[in-house]
Amino acid sequence: MKIQIVNGPNLNLLGRREPGIYGTSSFDDYLPRLRAQYPGVQIDYYQSNIEGELIDKLQEVGFGCDGIVLNAGAYTHTSIALQDCIRSLKAPVVEVHISNVHKREEFRHHSFISCACQGVICGFGLDSYRLAVEAIRAL
Ligand code: DQA
Repeated sequence: MKIQIVNGPNLNLLGRREPGIYGTSSFDDYLPRLRAQYPGVQIDYYQSNIEGELIDKLQEVGFGCDGIVLNAGAYTHTSIALQDCIRSLKAPVVEVHISNVHKREEFRHHSFISCACQGVICGFGLDSYRLAVEAIRAL
């Protein structure tokens, strides 16, 4: 089984960025721990701060993997282009957020991508990614 994780803008700063909200672990530290829990699953990882690069990656992997875990960062709240892209793919996409966006500012309450995704997981810190992997495995 092959699962692709795609992280959007500013998620390269995890561990250093607003640690009170996003925690103190970098994604590079977290990823080996996640992979170790799923030895039978190939978990690939990509991060970009650029909307078009995220779309290019989703198009590249979205017809050949078993599922995509997508944290689109702030593009979640702005991007119809990402919504259209997700709709175009064959692989199911699980929208993930580290923080509980519904407990935060009102502009974070709306997602332009949820309606195109298989489901949404938010608010469990980095464990949101593991829960998304579980969800894809169970599909
Ligand atoms: C986030 C929530 C978004 O509102 C924010 O813009 C992010 C991170 C999260 O993982 O909690 O960059 O997607």
